[in-house]
Amino acid sequence: MDKFVIRGGEPLLGTVRVSGAKNAALPCMAAALLTQEPVILENIPQVRDIQTTRNLLTAMGAEVELGYGRAQHRTTIQCEKLEAPEASYELVKTMRASTLVLGPLVARCGRARVSLPGGCAIGARPIDLHIKGLERLGAQIVQEHGYIEARAHRLKGAEIVFDKITVTGTEDLLMAATLAEGETIMQNCAREPEVADLADLLNKMGAKIEGAGSETIRVKGVSRLKGAKHRIIPDRIEAGTFIIAGAITGGDLNVAGCDPEHLGALLRKLEEAGVKTRPNGESVRVMGDNPLKACDILTEEYPGFPTDMQAQFMALVTQAEGSSIVTENIFENRFMHAQELVRMGANIKIEGRRAVVRGKSPLSAAAVLASDLRASASLVLAALVADGETIIDRVYHIDRGYERIEEKLKGVGAQIRRIGELFPKRAAAQARSS
Ligand code: UD1
Repeated sequence: MDKFVIRGGEPLLGTVRVSGAKNAALPCMAAALLTQEPVILENIPQVRDIQTTRNLLTAMGAEVELGYGRAQHRTTIQCEKLEAPEASYELVKTMRASTLVLGPLVARCGRARVSLPGGCAIGARPIDLHIKGLERLGAQIVQEHGYIEARAHRLKGAEIVFDKITVTGTEDLLMAATLAEGETIMQNCAREPEVADLADLLNKMGAKIEGAGSETIRVKGVSRLKGAKHRIIPDRIEAGTFIIAGAITGGDLNVAGCDPEHLGALLRKLEEAGVKTRPNGESVRVMGDNPLKACDILTEEYPGFPTDMQAQFMALVTQAEGSSIVTENIFENRFMHAQELVRMGANIKIEGRRAVVRGKSPLSAAAVLASDLRASASLVLAALVADGETIIDRVYHIDRGYERIEEKLKGVGAQIRRIGELFPKRAAAQARSS
């Protein structure tokens, strides 16, 4: 298993470029299931979840071509014949977003068999709202042996009111509704930019969707969709992680290739915490020359403060003067990083959904364990300011969603190295002696 070795203390300086949004790329890849024609996606990040989705689609009979060299961020997906409309437990357990294939498969093939995701490190993550919505569209659903089997001759448009806002639930049903007979009105939808990006692609494929990005989405069903070419939006979570990296290290960093409009809640909180940021076109410059101030955050659905930035913000406020309260409203168990930060010297007390962070605490290097994707990012951030050499284990979590993060950070002055499985003892010895 790969590890990161990070020596803290270097301010990050220069320009770092953001990749395409993993959370937009995943539903867009699933959308290719809705047509026999090729769908070409650009700005696809090279992360493990994309590979998993590729495996998922090819197992069903799709042809998925990933580009090489200069075209390495492009993929062409053609689902001419779908022989096995199925998502196995082996794939769903490593990536819960695999359930995004449920809606498109029933809509296109009239049947789907998808493993139930089960729990994960950050909470229960049920998919009851996906199932309820598909039933509203007329699908017959049976749950057996850990799988959901959905069938429908042709889905029928309906009114769907989500009991709770769900991002992939909105995307899954949006895809299903494009091929349903008649009109679907979806209420209380997720307003994340990734939902709007998916709708953009679907409309290019011939769907008739209005209102994506707002809480009500209307879809007029069509009988078939065609191929299309689409560029994935920039990853706002990767951008936010780099902005915090610039701030926490007291650097001067230009985070390029992002969409500052998608970062509103984060930038407002950073300002409150004393961090200077300057959005300029498709980039944000962050200047970490002021002392950090305590700042409370509360995670909410978009456009609120994203839960996917909570762990990274927690790392930041360990370096702020005073007490900050971090409230997690979206997932019930998303504080796994807190204990690891405490092992590095942070003062954090968890009280249910709230974490009280008292700063400023000097952080010192330790051997720490990444527990999930964003938790790993917070440990990288803490390591960048810790005294000494931190070793982060299980970085496969970070590889799920960040493209070559160690190379990008090294490019702006971080002392970070990956040590691989090939010669683990030799690499560890080198890490100790360098
Ligand atoms: C997506 C993102 C993830 C982000 C999350 C919240 C992708 C691939 N992943 O995950 O990075 O952290 O949004 O912004 O886009 N819920 C139910 N029943 C359901 C579905 C969800 O109760 O059927 C609950 C969940 O347990 C959670 C809340 O709703 O408490 C929000 O989850 P949801 O928006 O669905 O998260 P994901 O789409 O899985």
